[in-house]
Parts: sequence; structure tokens; C-alpha cells
Amino acid sequence: MLRNDAESYGVVTILFHWIIAVIFLGQILLGYLMVRTGNYALQFSLFQWHKSLGFLILLLSGLRLLWRMVNPRPRMPDGISRIERAAAHAAHGFLYLALFVIPLTGWAVASSSPLQIPTYAFNLVVIPPLPLAISDQAEAFWTMSHAWLAYLSAIVATAHILAALHHHFWKRDAVLLRMLGARRPAPVRPHADPLRIANKDTRS
Ligand code: HEM
Ligand code: HEM
Repeated sequence: MLRNDAESYGVVTILFHWIIAVIFLGQILLGYLMVRTGNYALQFSLFQWHKSLGFLILLLSGLRLLWRMVNPRPRMPDGISRIERAAAHAAHGFLYLALFVIPLTGWAVASSSPLQIPTYAFNLVVIPPLPLAISDQAEAFWTMSHAWLAYLSAIVATAHILAALHHHFWKRDAVLLRMLGARRPAPVRPHADPLRIANKDTRS
């Protein structure tokens, strides 16, 4: 099933979610490590990887959002309180926003830096700079915004992951399973229940 339906996520939504999630978490780790390494040759290459993967996230998130707009949204499983519902919507909304705003602020860092180091996405495409002021102050502003947003989103993503694990191991509902591709089990038809059939037989 490619598309979502009222109960389950389709393959395309699931692939978008997991591919972007892995690259996003990797980007936070890569970003953290690359600005702290003392090996400058390695740092240059890590920066190029970081920028390329960031643009890939931007592209995939655009496609993901379009796909989401033309697909039904599976309803939440029963037994989820209003507060949980609101928290889930807020976290998902924030994470969607982060998928666009973080790469854009990263692009702003590269564009406003007086060093003007060109960005070659995966050594294939030259990404032009954004039309922004170029100065040390501008670079410092965008760097701080980029880093704060990235680490804030890491906190929200951690809460999101813990919530998914809570649903799976504590509440034992289908929230995580359906993002892993599980379909809602078919309801058991009364005549397929052997116990009911046996009881019926002894009564007649
Ligand atoms: C979702 C995608 C991205 C995430 C999660 C992310 C995350 C991060 C993190 C955690 C850091 C380290 C911040 C610090 O400790 O100072 C960082 C640094 C950086 N990122 Fe990103 N980033 C993303 C996309 C991008 C993109 C698309 C670009 C550029 C085109 C970019 C350019 C940079 C640069 C230049 C730095 C170094 C800033 C400095 O000089 O300290 N990032 N990023
Ligand atoms: C191990 C890591 C992760 C797990 C276990 C996980 C789990 C889940 C689950 C179970 C859902 C479905 C919730 C529902 O049906 O209401 C979901 C949705 C979502 N997740 Fe994650 N997630 C992970 C990582 C991430 C990351 C890193 C991001 C951020 C970039 C993210 C962004 C989202 C968004 C935006 C949705 C809403 C999807 C939609 O309704 O269109 N997830 N996640």
C-alpha cells in the first residue's frame, strides 16, 4: 500500500519518516563533531558532507510535505487523551518546521561567512549563496541561530522518541507499530471464534 488510509501509514510516508529521521539525527552528531575537530583537512570534508546531507533533508522534507498534503492522515488510536493529542501535534509541528528552518539557517551561515566557501552538494551541484549580508557579525548570528535550533530540536526529537517507546512498551498500542508498517489486524468475526462455536453447540 503506497498511500495512507484512515488507520495506517503507507509505504511512502514510512520511508520518508525513517530516512529523514536517520539523516536528521546523524546531522546533529556530525554537526557537533565537525566544529570540534582539530584536524582541518577532515573538518573541510565533514563540512561538505554536513551541507550536502542538510540540502538532502530540505529536498526530502519538501517532497514529504507535498505527499502529506495529498494523503489522508491516519486517525490516532483510541485511548489517547486530549493532552497527549495536543502534545503529539505540537511536537510533530515543531519537527516539521525544524526540517526546513534548520537547513535554511545552515545555508545562511555558509552564505554570510566572509570566507565564502562554495557548497558542492555531494560534489555534483554547486549551491549558490543566499542573498544575505556578508560579515563576521552576520555569520555569528546565523551560526548561533542554527546551533540553538539544532540542539532544541534534538531535545524535542528525544521527547518524541521516548513518547513512541512509551506507547509501544507501556501502553502497548499500535502507534509505533504502524510507523513500522504494521497494518491494523482484521477484526475477529464472531463465527470464527472456536470457543463461541463450541458454546453454541452445547446449548443447542
Ligand atoms: C537538518 C539539517 C541540519 C542539522 C540538524 C544541522 C545541525 C548542526 C549542528 C548540531 C551544528 C553544530 C553547532 C555547534 O555546536 O556549534 C551545525 C553546524 C553547522 N552547520 Fe548545520 N545542520 C543542518 C543543515 C545544515 C545545512 C543545510 C548547512 C549549510 C548549507 C549547514 C551548515 C552548517 C555550518 C556551516 C555549521 C558550522 C557553524 C560553525 O561555524 O560553528 N547545516 N549544524
Ligand atoms: C528512533 C526515532 C524515532 C521514532 C521511534 C519515531 C516514531 C514515530 C512514530 C511512532 C510516529 C507516528 C505518530 C502517530 O501516528 O501519531 C512518528 C511521526 C512523526 N515523526 Fe518520528 N520517530 C523517530 C524519529 C523522528 C525524528 C528524528 C524526527 C524529526 C525529524 C521525526 C519526525 C516525525 C514527524 C514530523 C512525525 C509526524 C508524521 C505525520 O503525521 O506526518 N521522527 N514518529
